[in-house]
Amino acid sequence: MVCIFVSRDTFPEVLYRKLSEVGLVKAYNFGKPAWLTVGIPKEELKRAAAECDAMVVFVGDIVDSEVLSHAKNLKIISTVSVGYDHIDVAEAKRRGIVVTNTPEVLVDATADLAIGLLLALARRIVEGDRLIREGRAYDVWGALMGSDIKGKRAGIVGLGNLGTAIAKRLLAFGAEVVYWSRTRKPQVEFALGIKYLPLDELLATSDFVIVSIALTPETRHLMSWEKFSKMKRGAYFINVARGAVVDTEALVRALREGILAGAALDVYEEEPLPHAHELTKFPNVVLTPHIGSAAVETRAKMAEVAAENVVRFFRGQRPLYVVE
Ligand code: DGY
Repeated sequence: MVCIFVSRDTFPEVLYRKLSEVGLVKAYNFGKPAWLTVGIPKEELKRAAAECDAMVVFVGDIVDSEVLSHAKNLKIISTVSVGYDHIDVAEAKRRGIVVTNTPEVLVDATADLAIGLLLALARRIVEGDRLIREGRAYDVWGALMGSDIKGKRAGIVGLGNLGTAIAKRLLAFGAEVVYWSRTRKPQVEFALGIKYLPLDELLATSDFVIVSIALTPETRHLMSWEKFSKMKRGAYFINVARGAVVDTEALVRALREGILAGAALDVYEEEPLPHAHELTKFPNVVLTPHIGSAAVETRAKMAEVAAENVVRFFRGQRPLYVVE
């Protein structure tokens, strides 16, 4: 019997049924809500790799070469995420293990969050909420002046599906959208009327910089001090991609030195972000706990795609999305 391990009890029941068509499903912490599963212990991942034919994992479950060294019959790792930087894909491939992911279905939800963060920063929404809850006095006319979005330049770093969805939304707000990407996208430029700029020029001229680029060895710490120091003074910085695309120390320095008017982050180099981290000290920083795809409908679709990837694999068909 095929053994399918799921690292969190977060799948809608219908998907357990779907997975059960091709094997026996074992969920870590079965019956415990997913948010009470604060990361699965590594030992459990190792055990799953040793005992099961399939592993369904999530962002934050580190499937590294140590975990994979325990694999005996493991054939497929299906991650319920578009990102797969938590999996040692090269090592999995070397061992003949297929890795699948769930792109596309989470693009809109994540782009929505990027816009939410941008608005929260530009219009100081979180600061306003705090001010009222803390019962501080404020002048109804002069409090918390923010920034327009219309007419401002928004620079998107990384123009994949996510960057493109963010660009469309920003255009609807009347922003001028420019982008930088490792590969230039002339069709998207033409279709949306957006402009490509070299990264340094984008950083030097954008009022809002939104990072939506995947984490790869080449993009790790792409946003270094060298890059932050080139940013337009008073710009806002938003990251909804992966924390390690940004050198956190450099970001903190850019905030401290007043290069940035504010930053909004959904992702961190270390997740969960350690309690009382330096970033939490800035009133002009908005922090969310990696919730880009955390909408009920989107997460259900991601789970469905992840399950479909597994089902297809064991039926001898090609999964919907194989990480190449
Ligand atoms: C992903 O899918 O990679 C997101 O970061 C998690 O929602």
